[in-house]
Amino acid sequence: MARTAILNVMVQAAMKAGRSLVRDFGEVENLQVSRKGPGDFVSAADRRAEEIIRAELTKARPTYGLLMEESGETPGEDGQHRWIVDPLDGTTNFLHGIPVFAISIALERQGQIVAGVIFNPVMDELYTAERGRGAFVNDRRLRVAARTALPDSLIGTGLPFLGRGDHGRALKELRYVMPEVAGVRRIGAAALDLAYVASGRLDGFWEHNLNPWDIAAGILLIREAGGYVSDIDGKDTMLETGSVVAGNEFIKAQLQKLLKSAAE
Ligand code: IPD
Ligand code: CA
Ligand code: CA
Repeated sequence: MARTAILNVMVQAAMKAGRSLVRDFGEVENLQVSRKGPGDFVSAADRRAEEIIRAELTKARPTYGLLMEESGETPGEDGQHRWIVDPLDGTTNFLHGIPVFAISIALERQGQIVAGVIFNPVMDELYTAERGRGAFVNDRRLRVAARTALPDSLIGTGLPFLGRGDHGRALKELRYVMPEVAGVRRIGAAALDLAYVASGRLDGFWEHNLNPWDIAAGILLIREAGGYVSDIDGKDTMLETGSVVAGNEFIKAQLQKLLKSAAE
């Protein structure tokens, strides 16, 4: 299916920022061995990618608002449209030289996500979706996995770490989920986790304490690939609560039930 003009703008922005991230990623390995480590360099790489994306999006649609991880909210004159951007999802992977990271760009119109792009520049995997027009990786149409039984399912999650999230809840949830499934993965980039649910690599995913820029594009991808996403209570308030449960209709329902039991 031919991409619309607006999706093309998002793709161009993601690819340009992707080239910058890949160049910087090459430097990270050299810095890894220094005592100070690549921390400051990675923050700069992250900001560079964000500025590239901002410039591309603003050039194409000067009146739209922006919500970006590094620079926060920039209201737009337009009042109807907002870009939601994570210039580098998977920062900890990037920092440690692990080539699993992505750029996530979503477009919200009157509070509804209408387009999303997630780009893994190392694998050259470009995930795109537009509301009502399906989801794709490069030119291939996406469909969530068809497995219906948890024991066959590979489930992604995100784990809290130093200073972040509810560690007790995460451990309890793992205790409920681990014995029921074929495997649990902590990939380290929520946008890619969601893209992998959309493409059927993962059968399901859950995580808490996420930000809108981690999940806005991925939610649309999953829905356009025939999957289901909600928060733990089954509500469509993921951007507000930061909690996500996803999968096909069957796996998502079973996973959500386990997580509800873990919360009791
Ligand atoms: C993080 C990643 C990670 C998730 C964290 C996010 P960042 O985003 O998506 O998988 O577990 O909660 O903050 O910091 O790499 O953009
Ligand atoms: Ca992120
Ligand atoms: Ca980020």
